[in-house]
Amino acid sequence: MKDLFAQEHAAGEKSLDQSILELFRDKQGGVVSGEELSNCLGVSRTAVWKHIKTLKSIGYRIAAVPSQGYRLVSSPDILVPAEISAGLVTRRIGHRLICFRETESTNMVAFRLAEEGAEEGTVVVAEAQHHGKGRMGRRWESPPGVNLYCSLILCPPVFPMQAAQLTFLSAVAVARAIAETTPLQPEIKWPNDVLVGGRKVAGLLNEMSAETEKINFIVLGIGININMKQDQFPDDLRHPATSLALEAGRDISRLEVTRALLTALDDFYDAYLAHGYNPIREEWLSRCTMNGREVRVTFQNSEQEGMVMGIDEDGALLIRLHNGRVERVLAGDVTIL
Ligand code: BTN
Repeated sequence: MKDLFAQEHAAGEKSLDQSILELFRDKQGGVVSGEELSNCLGVSRTAVWKHIKTLKSIGYRIAAVPSQGYRLVSSPDILVPAEISAGLVTRRIGHRLICFRETESTNMVAFRLAEEGAEEGTVVVAEAQHHGKGRMGRRWESPPGVNLYCSLILCPPVFPMQAAQLTFLSAVAVARAIAETTPLQPEIKWPNDVLVGGRKVAGLLNEMSAETEKINFIVLGIGININMKQDQFPDDLRHPATSLALEAGRDISRLEVTRALLTALDDFYDAYLAHGYNPIREEWLSRCTMNGREVRVTFQNSEQEGMVMGIDEDGALLIRLHNGRVERVLAGDVTIL
């Protein structure tokens, strides 16, 4: 039998494991008889038993109640389609979910799938990446079982020069998901770092296939440090990093963060298609603590100081310099003074 990771979730299609888990959930901790399971699923009792054994092997605690049946005691916090899709109601995002125990990079997988014609909204998730990609050719630390690494395929009907808007969309969705599932207050730092307590907690890497006038697809890559411990961070990080668990002082449910993220991405993308970039820009500004503050921007060998006035249509940071001129900053490192 294929394991829960290998099973894709496509809207309307349920795997046997997913159906078993749904029957358990319907009983809310009550006993489901072997006969009921085998009748509902249309398989033999031996097949039911084998599936239960596999579910137990990946962390589901299922108790056998003598001469009555089985009872689901607890579910593991694992990122498999059957768990992520439970209770997930979205318009476009995550109707197709593909989960891996380990992969090279979810961005690479999603990019290949998109080239092969995978539909918009397809989501690729991995428990670990052995070639996690960060920005500027850097590596993204991706140890197993503690964080979220996911990539999502979108085909927005906008020009390639507007693609940066989608990175802002990822940033506001990540910030909303963190605010909804933890006691923490995330902030966004231009262009698209999500910070908690001044430290980076998530990274966003968008990759695009486009022609001159048309985007074929964009892969939104999102990594959130959820339950990573201090000793799992490499020493050579350029910017201070943290995880949700380190900031909250307790482990955080990866499944809850993942569902909240997919829901937020779906909501913001829906608003983007209906009303354009403005709803995202407004949300971004409300979460960006550097708005209205004095900052220094360094890029290569140049340095500029001024007050942040917001971001424009293309995602450029608007800075009012000391001479009163408003400068559009397209790249650089920003420090609040
Ligand atoms: C950054 O450098 O800040 C961006 C990091 C992006 C990491 C995510 S993890 C999921 C997706 N797959 C990758 O290989 N990278 C992105």
